[in-house]
Amino acid sequence: MKGIILAGGRGTRLHPITLAVSKQLLPVNDKPLIYYPLSALMLSGIRDILIISTPVDLPQIHRLLGDGRQLGLSLSYAEQPEPRGLAEAFLIGADHTGGDPVALVLGDNIFHGHRFDDVLQENARDVEGCVLFGYPVTDPERYGVGETDREGRLVSIEEKPARPRSNRAIVGLYFYDNEVLDIAKNLRPSARGELEISDVNRVYLERGKARLVDLGRGCAWLDAGTPASLMQAGQYVSALEARQGVRIACVEEVALRMGFIDAEACHRLGERLASSDYGRYVRAVAEEFR
Ligand code: TTP
Repeated sequence: MKGIILAGGRGTRLHPITLAVSKQLLPVNDKPLIYYPLSALMLSGIRDILIISTPVDLPQIHRLLGDGRQLGLSLSYAEQPEPRGLAEAFLIGADHTGGDPVALVLGDNIFHGHRFDDVLQENARDVEGCVLFGYPVTDPERYGVGETDREGRLVSIEEKPARPRSNRAIVGLYFYDNEVLDIAKNLRPSARGELEISDVNRVYLERGKARLVDLGRGCAWLDAGTPASLMQAGQYVSALEARQGVRIACVEEVALRMGFIDAEACHRLGERLASSDYGRYVRAVAEEFR
């Protein structure tokens, strides 16, 4: 399975912070925001990843992550000149996915939870149709919303509904089979002028091939799109990291634990960052593995 991180957009809700800096490079506690969605793909077992962002922001993201070889990944980059919708990612990424199944993650989404890697890996295997993840929220009208029947089968998908039929927001991580490109090619822009991901998902739903997996209470799903949510995300990560002494979305550690790199390589990555607590943590994790 290939991966795509969609990390463009305007970030207008964070203005003036994002007037000169990409939202996905802002700090969430001790690391850039984009490390969180990147770790979600890595924990799914995905190593071949396309990062899409604006022409202005892409060079900075490239400066941060390079070709990914240091993490045992293959990272490539593509521009989205204007934010014309999440589903445009499949058109921009057509050459990258090359007919393979694909996981799309939004560059400002943060996931954390007990056994989250198991949930990801189970659902990333042999995807038929699409797999969506639902999370209970108090403000579903801000999101794509999935409604399920008594058996837990998905029965409707609505984009930012005024009167939501459920409190299940569809989170910014989606797994698709290889039909997604054809579906995206046939989409028409919405009233907002965007290629909507909900329209892609609805095609799968009509074909009886969309599944909604509940993330439930054991998981945290945060987005960092507003000053308050960015601050809350930082506080959440900070509290957990300080309390437990482990780090969330430390990409070097994820690469090591997933077997993408060995302890020596991980140690070298830690050495490069050794002036920071983050770097010393990476080094300590590598030592523990030796
Ligand atoms: P949003 O938060 O919906 O949009 P935004 O980041 O431009 O922020 P704002 O609403 O404050 O102006 O986007 C969610 C994620 O998807 C975010 O990481 C940006 C990314 N995105 C794109 O890369 N391209 C797009 O066309 C859209 C709509 C979003």
